[in-house]
Amino acid sequence: MARKKDQKRYYYDHEPYYAKICCEGGTGWPIESDVSQRFLLKWAREQIFPEYATILEVGCGGGELAIELAKRGVKVEACDLSETAIRICQSKNPPENLAFFAANAMTHKGYPNPPYDWIIANQVLQSIIGGDRVFLLKRMRENLTTTGTIVVATMLGVPEKFKEEFNPITFVNKTNTRFFADLRMFAKEIAEARLRVTRHIKIDDHYRIFFLERLP
Ligand SMILES: C[S@@+](CC[C@H](N)C(=O)[O-])C[C@H]1O[C@@H](n2cnc3c(N)ncnc32)[C@H](O)[C@@H]1O
Repeated sequence: MARKKDQKRYYYDHEPYYAKICCEGGTGWPIESDVSQRFLLKWAREQIFPEYATILEVGCGGGELAIELAKRGVKVEACDLSETAIRICQSKNPPENLAFFAANAMTHKGYPNPPYDWIIANQVLQSIIGGDRVFLLKRMRENLTTTGTIVVATMLGVPEKFKEEFNPITFVNKTNTRFFADLRMFAKEIAEARLRVTRHIKIDDHYRIFFLERLP
């Protein structure tokens, strides 16, 4: 699949925030869903991956999850569109089996060694707007092995703190940086991307984690 020319936006808005985070000595993005982060870190610690397994994380932020996954001994590649986020990740002295790189998850060239056995996007999808969401899911699918799994932790619906900025007509916030898909919309997006849910964890009313596999 070629680069999406009609991308809804460039998704670079996290960069200035990371620059600020970096100046203030921060080590990653302020956690959007503490519970989902904790679940994934625990999940990563408990996994026994086959030695040859490969993992891609998209939108890795400060790299906490990628670092935990790399401790399992598998090859992990983790990207973020923000160069500053990647600099923060690299300052954490990643082990040899973990490569951080700056890349737009919507473009092909960003992924160095596909296909991957696991592709993980933790709290990224809610910042992807409209039709770009299916495009991103499709991109993950095409970079996945036939038996691989995609893990998407995402916001669904409208959490109280975002109620004021929610536009019920466009499903985007005022700054066009957050998309408020509900469960039904997300189910349609998954089907459109030729994926199906194999496991589903409800973190709370607005944050969920989905394990997805390819439909033939
Ligand atoms: C809410 S933060 C989550 C960061 C990290 N996954 C975590 O849980 O701490 C969303 C991340 O997605 C990244 N991102 C957004 N759009 C992206 C894109 N098109 N390609 C790569 N990364 C992207 C942002 O730069 C940001 O680091």
